[in-house]
Amino acid sequence: MTTDLSTHPLVQHYLTILRDRSTEASEFRRCCKCITEVIMVEAAKLLNIDAIQVQTPLEIADGARLSPGVVFVPILRAGLGMLDPAMGIIPGSSVGYIGMERDEATAEAKCYYAKMPDLSASTQVFVLDPMLATGGSAAQCVEQIKAKGAKNVNMVCIIAAPEGIAAFEEAHPDVSIVAGKIDRELNDQKYILPGLGDFGDRLFNT
Ligand code: PRP
Ligand code: URA
Repeated sequence: MTTDLSTHPLVQHYLTILRDRSTEASEFRRCCKCITEVIMVEAAKLLNIDAIQVQTPLEIADGARLSPGVVFVPILRAGLGMLDPAMGIIPGSSVGYIGMERDEATAEAKCYYAKMPDLSASTQVFVLDPMLATGGSAAQCVEQIKAKGAKNVNMVCIIAAPEGIAAFEEAHPDVSIVAGKIDRELNDQKYILPGLGDFGDRLFNT
């Protein structure tokens, strides 16, 4: 299932700044943080909770706390921009890292680094990558995460292309996607249109 948050006023506001080619890296980073917080609050609806009771100053109240075992996996490099705001929304989380790079000529993603915490069927994994273009990076990343034992995996991105969503859903029909915006299409170089260009380059000023 894919959730598209593009009607949210804050998503529209921050995405417009991210798209603007004249936005400088420091402002780009700030808006990446702000839009990720909004998207992550929506993705957090997928979290499991445990019922608990708490003693108020007056009596015992029914309450809830987040189930343990939340793991964020940012896809390097660009996913790093989403990590701090995501951890700020969901306390007590662990982090795994996957480095994926697209070949400039073929747009095929290759994994160059992976370091995961222990994963099990009860772990709730949120993969962070701002751009889901062909879906290749995300699909390979999720494949590795599932191979380590995770069964509850979600994908969080800022912009997704329809082609990438279709390919990803075919590979991983059990994984929910929460996206800031579903854009129009990919161009011949597999960049998202209208998109915002190369997220990693804009985030890290390279
Ligand atoms: C970008 C982006 C995604 C990937 C999406 O990474 O951050 O990881 O492309 O494309 P896909 O859906 O077609 O796989 P890139 O390869 O540019 O590496 P970077 O983050 O290090 O810049
Ligand atoms: N990666 C990006 O950073 N931008 C795109 O448009 C596609 C892949």
